[in-house]
Amino acid sequence: MDPISRRRIALAAPALLLAGCHAANAQPEGPISVPPLRQVAPFPVGACAMTGQFQDPTFVSTLVSNFSQITPEWEMKMEAILKNDGTFDFTRPDMVADFAAQHGMRLHGHTLVWYAQEMPAFKRIDGAGKPFADAYRNYILAVAGRYRGRVVSWDVVNEAINENGEGERDCIWSRNLGPDYAALAYRHAQEADPTVPLFLNDYFLDTLPNKRRSFLRMAERILKSGAPLSGLGTQTHVSIHMRPGAIKAAIKDLASLGLPIHLSELDVSTRNADGVKGRFDMTPMSERLQIQARVVGEAMEAFMSLPAHQRFAFTIWGVRDKDSWLRRPPNAGDGTDRPLLFDDDGHPKPAARALVEAVSRT
Ligand code: G3I
Repeated sequence: MDPISRRRIALAAPALLLAGCHAANAQPEGPISVPPLRQVAPFPVGACAMTGQFQDPTFVSTLVSNFSQITPEWEMKMEAILKNDGTFDFTRPDMVADFAAQHGMRLHGHTLVWYAQEMPAFKRIDGAGKPFADAYRNYILAVAGRYRGRVVSWDVVNEAINENGEGERDCIWSRNLGPDYAALAYRHAQEADPTVPLFLNDYFLDTLPNKRRSFLRMAERILKSGAPLSGLGTQTHVSIHMRPGAIKAAIKDLASLGLPIHLSELDVSTRNADGVKGRFDMTPMSERLQIQARVVGEAMEAFMSLPAHQRFAFTIWGVRDKDSWLRRPPNAGDGTDRPLLFDDDGHPKPAARALVEAVSRT
């Protein structure tokens, strides 16, 4: 399902009733100062990035001074690598890997197998049996093999659970390889690069407890098969309407398998609660940013409460508000969303301060 509809599920989740409950005295804050995030956390703090941002000096300086890890926003995915004729183009992922190396930043590989990217080269052999299985293995070996020694980890399978949280998605991978396409992907990835943790990553594991249960059941099945799944990613694309405590409950639950946890794609949308027709939310942005800070603080407190060996990384899905996918078509809405830790000019927001405060008090 397209990202916009995902947002409808997230924002219609049990929510703080913001309409009308705005504090009359909510005053916009002046500029705030926050220490570089990467210096405060006892684990990597990451952000997503793409080559199109590397020529923007403010983006680069804000990224490099605050974050120690990069997730390629899209340029290590099949859409960037696998050409229609079945050949590989590594130009873009190589540029991301080079940038990370040049700036002394860790690189989290994202992602090898995703239901949302059934590219033409695979569609052409859909149903072909062994040729499909061989191409699947060849793709994973080629990509994970190329970046061995350059990535610190991989999202091997991304978003395998159905949108509504019930069971595993039907996709080109499951149709051609059966439900064990995921376990197979971890085996291929380990064959290519036995040196890094291999993650299963998904979203709404906080807003939809049934989805979290399906996700954990899938992870347990992969582990029972003996496949080398070695980390769980919870994307945490949430909003200011998030029910307090939901993120903490999710992190605690996900940690129950004992694997490293990657809070992998945090953003906290400030837009109105979609899906609630007729709701005209008058909450001022200054108050929305305070609520956002509370949500970020909860996420960081939850992450900090994990044992050190389970704190893989805490990653934000973008650097400045204007860098967010939620400010780009087709998800831009009215273009006013402010989902990240830094404003459009790269100045820290209350959410950045809340992250630092949560680290220091936990
Ligand atoms: O920058 C190029 C531009 O040069 C080109 O002209 C244009 C047309 O091809 O494409 C532009 O790249 C787009 C890129 O976003 C930057 O805007 C890609 O087409 C587009 O596919 C890509 O979308 C990304 C999407 O995943 C699909 O890969 C989003 O940026 C990215 O935020 C989103 O991230 C996903 C995670 O991987 C998984 N979790 C959900 C998250 C949000 O949907």
